[in-house]
Amino acid sequence: MVRNIALNNGKTIPSLAWGNMGGKAKALKAGAIALKAGIHHIDSAQIYGTEAEVNGAIQAAGVKRDDVFVTTKLWKFTEPTIGLEEIKASVQRSLAELTFIPDLLLVHNPYIPEKGKIGEFWKHLETLVEDGTLKGCSLGVSNFRPVDIEEVFKTAKIKPVVNQIEYHPYVLEHLEPLLKVHAKYSIVTQSYATLSPVARHPTGGPIKPILTRLAATLSKESGETVDEAGVLILWAVSKGVVVITSSGDEGRIKKMAATERVRDLSSEEIEEIDQAGRKIHFRVWDEHMTNEFPDPDLPTDI
Ligand SMILES: NC(=O)c1ccc[n+]([C@@H]2O[C@H](COP(=O)([O-])OP(=O)(O)OC[C@H]3O[C@@H](n4cnc5c(N)ncnc54)[C@H](OP(=O)(O)O)[C@@H]3O)[C@@H](O)[C@H]2O)c1
Repeated sequence: MVRNIALNNGKTIPSLAWGNMGGKAKALKAGAIALKAGIHHIDSAQIYGTEAEVNGAIQAAGVKRDDVFVTTKLWKFTEPTIGLEEIKASVQRSLAELTFIPDLLLVHNPYIPEKGKIGEFWKHLETLVEDGTLKGCSLGVSNFRPVDIEEVFKTAKIKPVVNQIEYHPYVLEHLEPLLKVHAKYSIVTQSYATLSPVARHPTGGPIKPILTRLAATLSKESGETVDEAGVLILWAVSKGVVVITSSGDEGRIKKMAATERVRDLSSEEIEEIDQAGRKIHFRVWDEHMTNEFPDPDLPTDI
């Protein structure tokens, strides 16, 4: 079984993705491992310098392009980044690297467009969908705050389908107003840095014992090897979030893929993790999201 989530444009997206940030060698080798393990969803970006390796990994894994959901993200390479022609040229560079039109194109952060020009930038992306340059491609955003999303919706004809953000239990309190805006516009939350409580927090924080206990329960129930990272992936996908995770290690990639064969967390299990997570605030990526969107007054550990 592979979980999918409906987008607001009638299409669907697989709930689990392997992100190819971290260099060309990893993007190619581990990307092929992820595809072979059944994670048919690759998240790339212009700034990662790994768009060409998406196709490389697809070829190496021997899977069909059409069976893989591919995302890339636009970066800011010229000043100002606003005219239709320069945005079109940037998109065409991505298409040449990928060798195909992606399924989803994201604006990497709200500072890619010039200040105050998010609506105009979005209009140019809509033109590229309409003129066939991005035929069939869904559009979305990343690291957008509530104010940025409202700016897009003032003029958007094509709705953003996702907002890709840092998302895990230790940023839930901060994200509350943003998640309300996602719900208002039926925008799917895509998460990155999801494994931060186990991979980056110095102690693991208050959710750690809960993750350890659930990992044991789910492993016993399913016969799969579910570790704390797997519980975090299941916590997010059980909430309807699309998880973009990553690893360069074959064993860990296989464990990520195995979460597809494990049940969703129950509402009680989700609530237990949410409540413990909300007690602290621990953010890894703060360059976009905390600007004019202040962090909550919470400790980083208890
Ligand atoms: N839109 C944006 O601004 C943005 C920002 C950051 C990332 N992203 C996207 O999100 C993708 C994922 O990035 P992320 O680093 O944020 O992902 P993540 O899922 O939070 O963390 C991945 C890290 O967790 C480790 N890990 C994997 N499995 C583990 C396990 N079972 N136990 C403990 N640790 C484990 C990995 O290390 P090993 O490699 O050693 O296994 C890797 O360092 C990126 O590739 C990129 O596509 C987007």
